[in-house]
Amino acid sequence: MNPIQLFDPVSSTFTYIIAGPDDKEAVIIDPVDQHCERDLAHVERLGLRLAYVLETHVHADHVTSAGRLHALTGAKTAVPSGCGVPTAELQLRDGDTIRFGRIETISVIHTPGHTAGSMCYVWRGSVFTGDTLLINGCGRTDFQGGSAEALYDSVTGKLFGLPDETRVWPGHDYKGQSVSTIGWEKRNNARLAGRSREDFVQLMGQLNLPKPKLIDVAVPANRNLGLPHSV
Ligand code: FE2
Repeated sequence: MNPIQLFDPVSSTFTYIIAGPDDKEAVIIDPVDQHCERDLAHVERLGLRLAYVLETHVHADHVTSAGRLHALTGAKTAVPSGCGVPTAELQLRDGDTIRFGRIETISVIHTPGHTAGSMCYVWRGSVFTGDTLLINGCGRTDFQGGSAEALYDSVTGKLFGLPDETRVWPGHDYKGQSVSTIGWEKRNNARLAGRSREDFVQLMGQLNLPKPKLIDVAVPANRNLGLPHSV
């Protein structure tokens, strides 16, 4: 089964539901709090049950529903170990494998750069890149331990080493695009294709992006899986 791609128009965030063919267990990646019921309806309609809730990183632009999904379904919460989310059940490290369903495996790749802890997840010829690699772009690198040097090394050294036909499913898109491939991004990505590390670092240093509106709410909430902190 192809990944099911769901969209949050407020933050332009993609959420994914993945399951093997004729399988009953599913994994959800980067769910958004306002869409918890929508996402559960998809899972139910497809006759699936959630095994894991995965985060690619601690998001600054929306609050996750990971904690609520765990409470409602019993799905295990899994986060990158470098993201500072102590309440998650699974702290993922580079090279880990997540198993679900009958034979499904997700390979965990640590791809620092957008944030220090960011991870990408490889499953059945697809890679879920969070904000590390976007379609014809990449995530910003100016907060949460971000580093343009690290992002360049993660993308060119790790993600571009995947087979060219690997499908790239990004964490965001702002132009109505849905999916790309590693080969296309290697040849065409406006920020990274054919650019030296020095050029890339200079480019990222000149972006002058505004601070995300929700960062002061979203980051603390997401460090507790989107649940209110107990007092
Ligand atoms: Fe992000």
